[in-house]
Amino acid sequence: MSNQQLQQRKAAATPRGVGVMCGFYAERAKNAELWDVEGNRYIDFAGGIGVLNTGHLHDKVQAAVAEQLNKFSHTCYQVVPYELYVEVAEQLNALTPGDYAKKTAFFSTGAEAVENAIKVARAATGRSGVIAFGGGFHGRTMMGMALTGKVAPYKIGFGPFPADIYHGLYPNALHGVSIADSLTSLERLFKYDIEPSRVAAIIFEPVQGEGGFVPAPTEWVKALRALCDQHGILLIADEVQAGFARTGKLFAMEHFGVAPDLMTLAKSLAGGFPLAALVGKAELMDAPAPGGLGGTYAGSPLALAAAKAVISVIQEEKLLERANRLGEELKEKLHGLKQAVPQIAEVRGLGAMIAVEFNKPGSHEPDAEFTKKVQQKALESGLILLTCGTYANVVRFLFPLTIEDSVFQEALAKLDAALRA
Ligand SMILES: Cc1ncc(COP(=O)(O)O)c(C=O)c1O
Repeated sequence: MSNQQLQQRKAAATPRGVGVMCGFYAERAKNAELWDVEGNRYIDFAGGIGVLNTGHLHDKVQAAVAEQLNKFSHTCYQVVPYELYVEVAEQLNALTPGDYAKKTAFFSTGAEAVENAIKVARAATGRSGVIAFGGGFHGRTMMGMALTGKVAPYKIGFGPFPADIYHGLYPNALHGVSIADSLTSLERLFKYDIEPSRVAAIIFEPVQGEGGFVPAPTEWVKALRALCDQHGILLIADEVQAGFARTGKLFAMEHFGVAPDLMTLAKSLAGGFPLAALVGKAELMDAPAPGGLGGTYAGSPLALAAAKAVISVIQEEKLLERANRLGEELKEKLHGLKQAVPQIAEVRGLGAMIAVEFNKPGSHEPDAEFTKKVQQKALESGLILLTCGTYANVVRFLFPLTIEDSVFQEALAKLDAALRA
């Protein structure tokens, strides 16, 4: 079946709301490479949107899932439990930042982890208000959409959303939002909209993902922590995209020297299998009554087997160091292109969570058109790139940290050509 035939079947059988970037169909993939149904090869710098820090079908992940598949694929943990759930929870409790007793619950998607973070925060505090940030993305469920700070395309036509959700400004120097501006926006919410004693949680991304790969300034994260402590508000770090070695640390929060009360994880946690986790202070996690948390597929044994393998691969293959090294190399490449590509407004990121933002030359005007062209040119040459950002003028890089050096160099050459074209 050709790509074109599949495109026709897709148009007839599936809704346009499930927007699809590529016009070709995956046949197989390994590490950082992917082949379509016509045998064309691509280098995958999207990683299924940040899911493949350990690459497509890492041998150890594949073997762990195959082994589990020979035992059982599903019991529903809430009916008949299994050791893997407890074991990976123990690992995450030990690995995540925060010098306090923790507990972990598993789910299937990032949005579900976010939903449950809010449920736990509300149950633990007896308060309802939640503050999120402009430019943030937290998923496509009702609460996920309510928390998300980007209207198009995520919220259009889907309201009304759950009540008592407010948005502050996320600091972004390039867009003229200082740390002080952000903190003032929170003070204003407390003046205009909701008293702090009714706020259950502040949820933020340590590095905004969909919003443009914008790292939070350390001073701001510390100020958020202090504000939460002052008012008895819980701090939730949404690490769904930034977590699991992407930023050169296992968790992005490790860059800031303060710990959140609750943390959401998903994506690269399970190397391509659907798994999400909510990790938090034990007493908070125990606030909901038995039966209040869970889900039929929540904590799939196959995905947990994958997660256990991912954790050991990150350690064995020293992927934190590799994230930093590859990230530096990519940054150097992009900095070196500034002269030839005047649209480059900023190169930024932590570890391998790198982005390049484009403005019209000599102005502060976002250049979404140029960004799209770079993405298209790269794709034509066999390199899959993702865009992001409130103004769709950012290219983000989500290559596997396990990518072979030769494939990485090949991709940098394709990127160079796409940017100069
Ligand atoms: C920070 C963040 N939170 C939540 C989500 C939602 O995750 P999922 O798409 O698995 O529901 C995403 C997805 O991109 C994300 O980047």
